[in-house]
Amino acid sequence: MEVEKATGNFSRECMVGSGAFGNVYRGTLEGGWVVAIKKAHQDSYQRVQEFRNEVELLSKVKHNNLLGLVGFCEELGQKVLVYEYVGNGSLLDYILGKRGMSLTWRQRVNIALGAAKGITHLHEGVKPGIIHRDLKPSNILIGDGFEAKISDFGLVKSGPVGDKSHVSSQIKGTPGYLDPAYCSTFHLTPFSDVYSFGVILLQLVTARPAVVTGRDPSQYYHIVEWARPSVEQGKIGDILDANLLMQPCNMEMMLKMGRLGLRCTEKVPRRRPTMAQICQELEEALRSSTDGFVQRRQLHPTTYFRPENDNESETFVSTDGVRLQRFYVEMEGMPPLEDPSMKAFEISGVSLDMEKMKKIMGSMYL
Ligand SMILES: Nc1ncnc2c1ncn2[C@@H]1O[C@H](COP(=O)(O)OP(=O)(O)OP(=O)(O)O)[C@@H](O)[C@H]1O
Ligand SMILES: [Mg+2]
Repeated sequence: MEVEKATGNFSRECMVGSGAFGNVYRGTLEGGWVVAIKKAHQDSYQRVQEFRNEVELLSKVKHNNLLGLVGFCEELGQKVLVYEYVGNGSLLDYILGKRGMSLTWRQRVNIALGAAKGITHLHEGVKPGIIHRDLKPSNILIGDGFEAKISDFGLVKSGPVGDKSHVSSQIKGTPGYLDPAYCSTFHLTPFSDVYSFGVILLQLVTARPAVVTGRDPSQYYHIVEWARPSVEQGKIGDILDANLLMQPCNMEMMLKMGRLGLRCTEKVPRRRPTMAQICQELEEALRSSTDGFVQRRQLHPTTYFRPENDNESETFVSTDGVRLQRFYVEMEGMPPLEDPSMKAFEISGVSLDMEKMKKIMGSMYL
């Protein structure tokens, strides 16, 4: 099989990551074409349908801000997807400070805008419209020109866009990014993607995890509620990613992104903007932004999130069955967290039932 040859028989050296579906390998096809090869876990039989969904959908959908599917094979029980290779990691890597560089304010806006364009295409550019259902930083890959490429259509459901909404008894998505309105009503609409996108906008501004939870559920924190007071009072500097305070930063633009993030996460889905409106607003904000608002402040350079141990980030299974990854936080100028030395940050997409959701999100959201 050519994919086996391309990846040195799926060798560890070629592995670039791993997710709920399986491992991802960097492969070189004949002719030197570099691709990303996603191989399903052996035990992912229940995901056969997801696999076919992803293949069917991706092969139809083409957009500069959507990850391109090169091919697939489904032989001898081996499910393999071949994608274009995206060289600059995922947005999650930057939020965690894993790439050794932080994004500029302009790169953040461009990534938000590109991602919004890709999602708009899913919602409005194809028939029937597609709701992603698992938007999160690890599913926004960063291309050579630092453009956003939306990936992972495994949980995508072709769905109604517009007035009708889809009702499903199985909640799918990732805690922290899941729309509470969808969780409580089971009505899936494109506004659920808008909610997840709002969370991502706030993460682009603050570089904070979407959710922090200790082993004790009372230590729950969600980025929307954490960011809200500062954004509403226009004090964006209080919650800004400290890396942005060490370089020229357009504070006005970051505040606009924060405000947009809050609107995207409005409790009532219909009060949220559509993805197309989000594109327009971001474009307009970029056009009208002036360098007069650029500020530069000095902060101690150790202000960032980073994994507890870069090479061997510890993962554990929480009581909710959700894989979590521990991080420690060195923050300055941020409100103190209850236990700043050890916080948990979700890394895994999962299917959840309502009981699990309640445990994770707490009564505040349901
Ligand atoms: N096309 C690609 N090019 C380069 N790297 C990729 C590509 N697709 C995925 N990756 C990398 O592989 C890793 C695993 O991706 P994968 O989508 O399997 O899992 P995930 O998004 O982290 O989690 P989940 O399974 O919950 O969506 C990611 O960290 C991503 O950076
Ligand atoms: Mg992914």
